[in-house]
Amino acid sequence: MTKWIYIEDIASYEDQDVEIRGWLYNKRSCGKIRFLLVRDGTGIIQATLFTPEKEGLLFQKYDQLTQESSLIVRGKVKKDNRAPGGYELEVQNLDIIQIAQDYPITPKEHSTSFLMEHRHLWLRSQKQNAILQIRATLINAIRNFFDDRGFRLMDTPILTPSACEGTTTLFETQYFDQKAYLSQSGQLYNEATAMAFGKVYCFGPTFRAERSKTRRHLIEFWMVEPEIAYAVLEDIIELSEDLLLFIIERVLEKRKNELDILERDTAPLEKIRKPFPRVKYDEAVKRIKEKGLDIKWGEDFGAPHETCLSDIFDSPVCVTHFPAKIKAFYMQPDEKKPEVVLGLDVLASEGYGELIGGGQRIHDPNLIQQKIKEHNLPREAYEWYIDLRKYGSVPHSGFGLGIERTLAWLCKISHIRQTIPFPRLLYKIYP
Ligand code: 4AD
Ligand code: MG
Repeated sequence: MTKWIYIEDIASYEDQDVEIRGWLYNKRSCGKIRFLLVRDGTGIIQATLFTPEKEGLLFQKYDQLTQESSLIVRGKVKKDNRAPGGYELEVQNLDIIQIAQDYPITPKEHSTSFLMEHRHLWLRSQKQNAILQIRATLINAIRNFFDDRGFRLMDTPILTPSACEGTTTLFETQYFDQKAYLSQSGQLYNEATAMAFGKVYCFGPTFRAERSKTRRHLIEFWMVEPEIAYAVLEDIIELSEDLLLFIIERVLEKRKNELDILERDTAPLEKIRKPFPRVKYDEAVKRIKEKGLDIKWGEDFGAPHETCLSDIFDSPVCVTHFPAKIKAFYMQPDEKKPEVVLGLDVLASEGYGELIGGGQRIHDPNLIQQKIKEHNLPREAYEWYIDLRKYGSVPHSGFGLGIERTLAWLCKISHIRQTIPFPRLLYKIYP
């Protein structure tokens, strides 16, 4: 029996007979040789068929094969610098599992809307494969980062009775005879688990019924959220720097091939060092105005403002001390200037906008109750949250990092829809 292997492991099998189970990516013929590009999900290998033997059976099969037909090839692994990936397979035996009829995504150009309609098949293309491979490495790096630093993983609920990030973007659903909402963030629950475990993180899907149709917004996205009891704003600024540097290092180390496939120039990522530049909101507004963009103090940044800021610094930037009005109810006011809060946004370099949002939380029981009232939030749903301020309340801080935004930046791809296998976009839920 020939050993079934995956293409990503091919280098360990030089001059050995192996079996590869996959699909036809492409084929071409050149004189008396036929080349099959076979993909198995972990890579693509050139499988070579030589001059007809056995009554030309291999060549007959070659003629039948169409793009995305499933097949099993067996043969000897040969080092060949001319072959993509550096190895090829000299085929001795080929089994066709199924002939694919009229695969809709051909090597010619297709419109994005066509590709999005066929997302279930588009995933098979080399670039999509590379992006999602990097996604898996990114997620693994993030988990390692927090696990190795003693953060406890806490899985916070998806179905919740209350809002975290404002009521305008809530997805409402029925919870038996009650209303419930899909989680916008695990933060409020993490504030409870942080008081129980010291430092925690949650990592899960979050939902925002956001009516924004931009290249940065998903309706369903994944977020990792650390929360630390006794931490103040400065502590989480440093944590966010360390996290981003760790991620960059790991992805550059493990996913060079994939970044090459995406033609990502990695030099701008390699240059990133800590500390990141820090600007308070006041200063940021001034800098944005100097660049000729329109913004008034008190307004939230839009995509052009974020892009403008990150262009000024050529590095991720930490923006802090935002007007309380544009931030969530739980943000700790600045002692010296209570109209601003100790919030943190980390903006990506290369114009990719906000990767991280977080800050220091209100720990004073009276103030949190006042804010809940000011924001017209239903007090009953937050009783438990207020409790956290009654029983051993301490300053605490945390943030959320969006996986898809971070991945779009690392891969330098223009639209967030390619960063998750099945993106949920405004009014688009198929497939
Ligand atoms: O800034 P946000 O809304 O912060 C929170 O949800 C906090 N409760 C997190 C915390 O402090 N624990 O979201 C955090 C990050 C953003 O910086 C962005 O990367 C991502 O989540 N994000 C989105 N990503 C894709 N599509 C959307 N619609 C997003 N909204 C936020
Ligand atoms: Mg934010």
